[in-house]
Amino acid sequence: MLQISKLNAWYGASHALQDISLEVSKGEIVCLIGRNGAGKTTTLKSIMGLMGRARGSVTFKGEELLRQPAHVRFALGLAYVPEERRIVQGLTVRENLRLGLVASKQKKREAELIDEIAAIFPRLAERMDQEAVTMSGGEQQMLAIARAMIAKPDLIMLDEPSEGIMPVLVDEMFELFSSMKAQGTTVLLVEQNVELALGIADRAYVLDQGAVVHQASAQALLADDEIKERYCSV
Ligand SMILES: Nc1ncnc2c1ncn2[C@@H]1O[C@H](COP(=O)(O)OP(=O)(O)O)[C@@H](O)[C@H]1O
Ligand SMILES: [Mg+2]
Repeated sequence: MLQISKLNAWYGASHALQDISLEVSKGEIVCLIGRNGAGKTTTLKSIMGLMGRARGSVTFKGEELLRQPAHVRFALGLAYVPEERRIVQGLTVRENLRLGLVASKQKKREAELIDEIAAIFPRLAERMDQEAVTMSGGEQQMLAIARAMIAKPDLIMLDEPSEGIMPVLVDEMFELFSSMKAQGTTVLLVEQNVELALGIADRAYVLDQGAVVHQASAQALLADDEIKERYCSV
């Protein structure tokens, strides 16, 4: 579904990604792990079209994306939930969800889709008319994920979704990722909590200093203390 080959990206003169190659097959949960500053967020931003300067190849469902702007990539079925969530202040939960629909041009099915989301996230259903920023961090993260899911993406990219969230909600969120997979959504997950992420992932890539240094099945990596210690301890 997603094939990245020799991806390079820069912040000004700083060469942040160096020849990243990775792939994600339909229906997989693939995890990117590595220390702070390893290049995980930059990889997701490059896939979504949010890096000013990127070279190499990113194909999604057979189409080359690298020259395409972010909105085109979104329309092709890519979704991205950034670390900073971007919940819109002054809007209710419902209005924030509606933004996801407007962006995906699925206005006609609004009521139906909002019902669907409510069924997946009962907590959001109870808070549809609450101002979104008054919810807890975890609930806002659920909203950000719901807003991305409402567009029915083929592949959703999540950047550190568990960051700063209560453990009980984190468990709920990870169950949701597994059920997304069961329903056919492909997931590319960046996560600091390596054990948790590998628990639901099929495969993982380890990044260090802007390069892929290791790849393995989630199961193999879970058992590989040396790699985890060398590249994943904060
Ligand atoms: N906006 C930015 N401007 C300049 N350098 C940045 C910017 N964002 C990240 N970097 C640098 O790019 C490298 C990769 O960062 P990032 O992709 O955010 O890592 P990770 O998500 O794995 O923690 C780091 O050296 C970081 O300092
Ligand atoms: Mg990051």
